[in-house]
Amino acid sequence: MFQSVTKALMALTISAAMLATPVFAEPISIKFSHVVAVDTPKGQAAEFFKKRAEELTQGKVKIEVYPNSQLYKDKEEMEALQLGAVQMLAPSLAKFGPLGVKDFEVFDLPYIFNNDVDLHKITQGPVGQQLLDKLEPKGVKGLAYWDNGFKSFSANTPIKTPADLKGKKLRIQSSKVLEAQMQALKAIPQTLAFSEVYQALQTGVVDGTENPISNFYTQKMQEVQKYMAITDHGYLGYAVIVNKKFWDGLPADIRTQLEIAMKEATVYANHMANEKSIKDLEAVKATGKTEVTVLTPEEREAFRTVLIPVHEKMADRIGKDTIEAVYKAINFKK
Ligand code: LMR
Repeated sequence: MFQSVTKALMALTISAAMLATPVFAEPISIKFSHVVAVDTPKGQAAEFFKKRAEELTQGKVKIEVYPNSQLYKDKEEMEALQLGAVQMLAPSLAKFGPLGVKDFEVFDLPYIFNNDVDLHKITQGPVGQQLLDKLEPKGVKGLAYWDNGFKSFSANTPIKTPADLKGKKLRIQSSKVLEAQMQALKAIPQTLAFSEVYQALQTGVVDGTENPISNFYTQKMQEVQKYMAITDHGYLGYAVIVNKKFWDGLPADIRTQLEIAMKEATVYANHMANEKSIKDLEAVKATGKTEVTVLTPEEREAFRTVLIPVHEKMADRIGKDTIEAVYKAINFKK
């Protein structure tokens, strides 16, 4: 009698423990830091990823999203990822130079992609994967590319021709290709963290800048920039990256669920990028504060003529093989 009660108690204890484990185990925490507003393609995709990752892992993973440079600014966030202070980021492809992977600056070459179809041949194909693989020796793993959009120039004086930007101080991200691009326009490039741009424009530290439309609108740059020319002269998008040691150390089933969530978030991000580039342009126009000019094909060609030589100039920095691989995949013609 005594023995059977003991056995029953033991069985109860074991099944209670089995039941208790999933409920009381600490969730794995992933800090995802980024520098843009929540209402941008990246901001929305980060929220989407959080939701799906938490659903698919049934709460075993908790994603904490920190938008708007709340936690770290551009350069600091890369260092924080390598140190393991955050686990996930989605920096612009123009910000990988300081990490020592300059190949990503191929995405900054002016007029390299004609449209999303060309772009996706790279970001969703073997060349894009080879680029992500180059991050691994830096302790970083690339999970996906997320779109934002094509950039336009803005300033407080009208922009119709490359000469209109001559002598202007223009804010850039940390890419040397963007520096060369501004120099080709005879402008003065100034590298600034994204979080500092609005104030720099407001106080005249810089005269103008370049942005995809959703970043311009959500940072309220229409309050401090009177003119924008839709030049679509270059691309801005992201690589979603994680600390490799952290990622490799995750239980395999969790990693698989997170990969599924990331695939879904990528489709969502690219859809949002499309939607926002249309909606936010209308929203900027509706403020009546920034005059938006669409360049004629001839005006656009004038910018192209000035900017295409940047490809040749930056070939050694980016890597000739990388540029050639991209050219070949999209059948690029100068
Ligand atoms: C910028 O610095 O302009 C962008 O990289 C910001 C972003 O993350 O879109």
